Amino acid sequence: MKCRKCGKPAVINMRHHKLALCADHFIEWFVRQTERTIEKYRMFTRDSRILVAVSGGKDSLSLWDVLLELGYKADGLYIDLGIEANDYSKTSHAKIDAFMENHPGARLHVVDIKATYGESIPEVAMRVRRGRGKPCSVCGIVKRHEMNRIAIEGGYDVLATGHNLDDEVAVLFLNTLHWQTGYLARQAPVLPAENGFAKKVKPLCRFYEREVAAYALVKGIDYIYDECPFAVGAKTIFYKGILNQIEEKSPGAKHQFYLNYVDARRKGKIKFAEDDEEPPEMHPCPKCGQPTTAPGLCTFCRLWESNK
Ligand code: AMP
Ligand code: FES
Ligand code: ZN
Ligand code: ZN
Repeated sequence: MKCRKCGKPAVINMRHHKLALCADHFIEWFVRQTERTIEKYRMFTRDSRILVAVSGGKDSLSLWDVLLELGYKADGLYIDLGIEANDYSKTSHAKIDAFMENHPGARLHVVDIKATYGESIPEVAMRVRRGRGKPCSVCGIVKRHEMNRIAIEGGYDVLATGHNLDDEVAVLFLNTLHWQTGYLARQAPVLPAENGFAKKVKPLCRFYEREVAAYALVKGIDYIYDECPFAVGAKTIFYKGILNQIEEKSPGAKHQFYLNYVDARRKGKIKFAEDDEEPPEMHPCPKCGQPTTAPGLCTFCRLWESNK
């Protein structure tokens, strides 16, 4: 297989785009496509201050790399969840430190959950017994809260995460299968800032996972290969497998499923009752000040309340 642009050996063949590219032309294409996504969905501009949530995985490190490459003002945020199984949190942090060494001048915020709040994610999850022993739901609450806190406290204009097309398609598929219209109404590459929540964007949402992995590989970005040890058996992993079978028979199916949905939503062709509903009444949590619909403390603060 040869590069369509220069004829050198191709490093990747993207069947859905009918495009094979060599290393140099693939990197050029990837960076340009990311910029197009940022512009198309009006994610941010050159003047914006961007907070990139980095997990040490290929997606978020590649995202941070591209944004720095393009000259955006992008700082990183790593949340140390204190997951000791397989040395998961420690290894993730080490990959980010290695990235920082190769990107002099990059700035990173680190929030160590145990040092800040007294317990690691698996410890809180055990104590509150939420999610049948699996810490994932507690972890989601904590990550969302801390990402928003650092974005707001640091005066950032936007919070960027590394979600790729495969992530987004799996969630869209799951929510469609169950007609979760509330979730469907909120699934988009951009969520505007509202009521004390930072604006959220997913600049890699148009790339297949293998394209992001190829970018990290070609650029020599070292990342943590393993999934979080608690993610094993997660529903989205099962659905990703099914979607891969569909993609195999029908190249581009995932791309179309997600992007046609996003575009139809943007043009108002798909509407949900939720779009016209008044947003639920929010009030600031009396402890942390973040917006919440719960009476009294927010879900995050309630996790720690019972530890007193
Ligand atoms: P996940 O929910 O693990 O699929 O991760 C989705 C995105 O959330 C990643 O691409 C990162 O941008 C962000 N993220 C996940 N884990 C962390 C973490 N421990 N610290 C900071 N950001 C994270
Ligand atoms: Fe949070 Fe796995 S439980 S990343
Ligand atoms: Zn080429
Ligand atoms: Zn709170």
